[in-house]
Amino acid sequence: MASKKGKTRRRKKVKVAINGYGTIGKRVADAVNLQKDMSVVGVTKTKPDFEAKMAVKKGYKLYAAIEERAELFDKAGIKIEGTIDDLIEKADVVIDCSPSKVGAENKEKYVKAGVKAIFQGGEKESVAEVSFNALSCYDKAIGKDYVRVVSCNTTGLTRVLYLIKENFGIKKVRATMIRRVVDPKEDKKGLVNGIMPNPIALPSHHGPDVKTVLDVDITTVAFKVPTTLMHVHSINVVPEEVPSRDDVIEVLKSEPRILLLSEKDGFTSTAKIVEWAREVRMRYDLYENCVWEESISIVDGEIYLTQAIHQEAIVVPENVDAIRAMFELKSRDESMKITNESLGIGSL
Ligand SMILES: NC(=O)c1ccc[n+]([C@@H]2O[C@H](COP(=O)([O-])OP(=O)(O)OC[C@H]3O[C@@H](n4cnc5c(N)ncnc54)[C@H](OP(=O)(O)O)[C@@H]3O)[C@@H](O)[C@H]2O)c1
Repeated sequence: MASKKGKTRRRKKVKVAINGYGTIGKRVADAVNLQKDMSVVGVTKTKPDFEAKMAVKKGYKLYAAIEERAELFDKAGIKIEGTIDDLIEKADVVIDCSPSKVGAENKEKYVKAGVKAIFQGGEKESVAEVSFNALSCYDKAIGKDYVRVVSCNTTGLTRVLYLIKENFGIKKVRATMIRRVVDPKEDKKGLVNGIMPNPIALPSHHGPDVKTVLDVDITTVAFKVPTTLMHVHSINVVPEEVPSRDDVIEVLKSEPRILLLSEKDGFTSTAKIVEWAREVRMRYDLYENCVWEESISIVDGEIYLTQAIHQEAIVVPENVDAIRAMFELKSRDESMKITNESLGIGSL
């Protein structure tokens, strides 16, 4: 079978399929839909539920993610265009947003069809040729066929650490991840009244995952806590050159994907950040790292800061940039600028 991979550069818009229209998939679909150089050719669901109905209502062509479940959509009166195999045929790239570890199972279909694919952070590093963060390693994904966008926590860590490393150098990083236990829509699992060291033995997987996209000495510990809104990271960096607090603030302010928020404005917790985001963004999606300005400190030559990460949104711009890198459409800075403008990043 002739590979589709070689043909794609001549096309005007990259045709993007979203396999798994869930928390991440629906957001990535809407973000891709806002770009001039790519379009959504279809999305998939396994269940004919409200999310499937919403996809159709928004104008996305809906396909069954699992062939055997196609008839459930007919029975529920929801129009589908076919199955994932039909959708893959129409796509230049599949963004796999299926549940963790399912992406690796789906890969066989993409390889067989000769279509490029982007996987998410729930997959192992080995699922793709490279792991991706736009700031730290856009160029590594140029022309690649299989790319993994790292997880929400890894994306949040990598952005700030890349900026610190580029400007001051990094000897080592120690970070504590205070993780939201599940996403807000989850009603089958959660943690109601406890704080769970997760994992109990060091290190958590986040440090090693950062190393897939940024060369840095990092150790992380992680806890799950009973909240659904955002993660919080407490980060401590030993830099090569000790900056002033103002130097750090200036560097972070210069990057649109970092937002500096202040306690003076009432941002005393993730609850307040989300309350504000509900006013300024659809679905209160915060694509930016939210760094508390007052937390930025230099103590004994080490940098400290605390940031909040909206887990449902932060990887969305990275998926859009990954497409541009894989199809060699734009340089890192050009792609990030276009993505930022389309999503309102840098305008809050
Ligand atoms: N949520 C986060 O905070 C977050 C942040 C960063 C990265 N990620 C990563 O992003 C990926 C997706 O996570 P998510 O939170 O978006 O999950 P999710 O909300 O559970 O959505 C998963 C979607 O995949 C569909 N699906 C189920 N089985 C499938 C299959 N065999 N093939 C294709 N699609 C299938 C589901 O359809 P039905 O609902 O119809 O069954 C659903 O639409 C995971 O790798 C996760 O680790 C998640």
